Amino acid sequence: MNKFFLNLGKQPLANNYLTKYQSKQPMYLLKIFFNTKTKLVSISKRIPSKKMFNNKYPYKSSMSKTMQKSFFKLSKEIKKRFNPKLLLEIGSNDGSLLTNFDRSKCIGIEPCSNLAKLTQKKGYQTYDVYWNFKTVKKLKKKFKNIDLIYSANTITHISNLDDVFKSISYILSDNGIIIIEDPSLLECLKKVSYDQFYNEHIYVFSAISLKNILKKYSLEIFDIKNLSTHGGSLRYYIKRKNNKKLIISSSVKKQLFKEKKYGLNNYRTYKNFSNSAEKSKESLNKILTNIKNDNKKIIGYGATAKATTVLNYCNIDNNFIDFFVDTTPDKKNRFMPGKKIKILKYNQNILKNVDYIFLGAWNFRNEIFKKEKKFIKKGGKFITHIPFPKII
Ligand code: TMP
Repeated sequence: MNKFFLNLGKQPLANNYLTKYQSKQPMYLLKIFFNTKTKLVSISKRIPSKKMFNNKYPYKSSMSKTMQKSFFKLSKEIKKRFNPKLLLEIGSNDGSLLTNFDRSKCIGIEPCSNLAKLTQKKGYQTYDVYWNFKTVKKLKKKFKNIDLIYSANTITHISNLDDVFKSISYILSDNGIIIIEDPSLLECLKKVSYDQFYNEHIYVFSAISLKNILKKYSLEIFDIKNLSTHGGSLRYYIKRKNNKKLIISSSVKKQLFKEKKYGLNNYRTYKNFSNSAEKSKESLNKILTNIKNDNKKIIGYGATAKATTVLNYCNIDNNFIDFFVDTTPDKKNRFMPGKKIKILKYNQNILKNVDYIFLGAWNFRNEIFKKEKKFIKKGGKFITHIPFPKII
């Protein structure tokens, strides 16, 4: 049974950065639910994939050094630990992981054709299609089996989880490995990161819920790693249940225990989270109002999908934040979804007369602080809402 716990109000499509501001853009009610049986947390309103993931998708994982490093490190681990003959990535984006592998040893699936083109140009086999059973039947004919299937921040974007895992199970070799990484529900709750929810993030997984989903496909988690990426993610290593060659690491038990202890099995925990999100909203509005009463200038840093949730939930517009800066070329001179706040191309000079920076990309806080030493030295301050609104 799905039980409601959080209402984030009307939200635009999080990655829909418009060139011209429109006061009336499509908005969708964003309500979050907890399934008492599977313990899966999901949003109620499902937007068709084609509306969100198409040839205009602006997000590029290579835009942050942190992500590049994380993919490079993982590619080294995959080669050493599993050495797959053939690797397939679901949601290969701009190839931040794939390009660390030999072209003949990997395949990318990326429905956003603007991104798929980038790896195709580099000679990597990339199919600009959605991951579903229809796609996989074709792949099976061509490649037979895949030894390693990897997917980062993608599975949680696909509504039909049954189809996702049925397809994975269909093409995975008997001793094959699946590696999935996505934001961790435990970290999301601990950090009061309600901005982890937007229309693209249909699910936020916990080890508990993923374990429950995998059961049906005779798949099981055999290792888990905690990552700092995307504000705290989990990397799940999955195998077929009947593959006894791989031992289940103690990391799995540990994570399940941590999650149970925090209360991820209990609806009450989610109601508490909802109250904390309300408090966070009030407190952030207070901080911004006080700064504006002092006639200081605030800008946003990192025009993230997460920031879109914050701006629209807390009703923050250009009365508070003059503009956002972002390094992504496709976000330049566009508007934050749902709000009349322009995104400007990042350069250090742009921070000259700025007093406060709201961290839209709070998950890259360390990378940004390193880059903005000059701003900090001159007395510039940052504002974050994670884990609670404060000035740094
Ligand atoms: P994400 O949190 O969804 O990964 O998005 C990060 C966004 O922040 C992306 O649009 C790139 C942007 N960004 C900057 O503009 N400057 C930076 O230094 C970093 C790390 C990210």
